Amino acid sequence: NIPKYVKIVEVGPRDGLQNEKDIVPTSVKVELIKMLVDSGLQVVEATSFVSPKWVPQLADAKDVIEGIKGVSNARFPVLTPNLKGLEAAIAAGVKEVAVFAAASESFSRSNINCSIDESLARYRDVASAARKLSIPVRGYISCVVGCPMEGEVHPSKVAYVAEELVKMGCDEISLGDTIGVGTPGSVIPMIEAVKKVVPIEKLAVHFHDTYGQALSNILVSLQMGISVVDSSVSGLGGCPYAKGATGNVATEDVVYMLNGLGVKTNVDLRKLILAGDFIRKHLGRPSESKAATALKKT
Ligand code: HMG
Ligand code: MG
Repeated sequence: NIPKYVKIVEVGPRDGLQNEKDIVPTSVKVELIKMLVDSGLQVVEATSFVSPKWVPQLADAKDVIEGIKGVSNARFPVLTPNLKGLEAAIAAGVKEVAVFAAASESFSRSNINCSIDESLARYRDVASAARKLSIPVRGYISCVVGCPMEGEVHPSKVAYVAEELVKMGCDEISLGDTIGVGTPGSVIPMIEAVKKVVPIEKLAVHFHDTYGQALSNILVSLQMGISVVDSSVSGLGGCPYAKGATGNVATEDVVYMLNGLGVKTNVDLRKLILAGDFIRKHLGRPSESKAATALKKT
């Protein structure tokens, strides 16, 4: 009993690249986004309007948005940590934003330099300013099952943050296993707790594949009624403030599984693999997608 259609939120250009040491030229980012849209992806998280001191790789956010101005058929949300980021994003022409909180205090401090409640207060301002302009706001929650500093995270902490994000007007809540430690054993009770306070239609899942658990976690999330899945082309990614976290689950692997389940995604796997090849060639490292690697051998 799983959804007939799954919306994939491609986070490669943002989550995937934010941790790269060598600056990827804006033109490469723009070309990657165009290839991702060409593969049929309808939501591509393009960049972040965050402090360039914290995330130097995305300091060209404004130019990336400028570079994709003419691209239609897709939505290009960006991360905004505060009003300063929101204002810069709006000035650049962004139409959708995301705020990012955490379910663990230590991670909140290390990622955005404030407590959970301070971040929620900040996001209330961002969300109300965005809503006045009819700009949809996605709310991320990091460390939904485990934190690199605090270990296991109790589902009630995730439910608390999720409820606050919905109350302030977030349209979608993305549940992030930032360090990829979750298994269906921890993910199911977490989603059970969150869905008591947030309608399932508003939930998305965001798995990093550090321990190879992402596809199993996605499958159980779908079985629980979630139909929005975040992933990153060729498994790019990692979080600069989550030591040891590897990439997001590879979009190619998610699409391969969904194709096998007969779930529609609107994505052309062959074209998606080309987008993965393009960015991997630039980075000089092989794809983390098993499906892409296997299909290229056949
Ligand atoms: P702070 O140092 O506490 O902020 O950082 P501040 O307000 O004191 O400002 C310090 C400086 O940053 C000032 O500049 C500000 O102007 C500037 P200075 O006067 O020193 O020259 N600044 C900005 N510049 C550009 N854009 C802005 C902005 N805001 C302030 N929006 C802050 C607080 C939140 C800004 C900082 O910690 C930050 O930018 N953090 C971003 C961290 C980040 O992007 N992490 C990765 C994304 S989250 C993630 O990957 C998890 C996710 O994938 C889900 C999952 O996997 O769990 C979403
Ligand atoms: Mg992430």
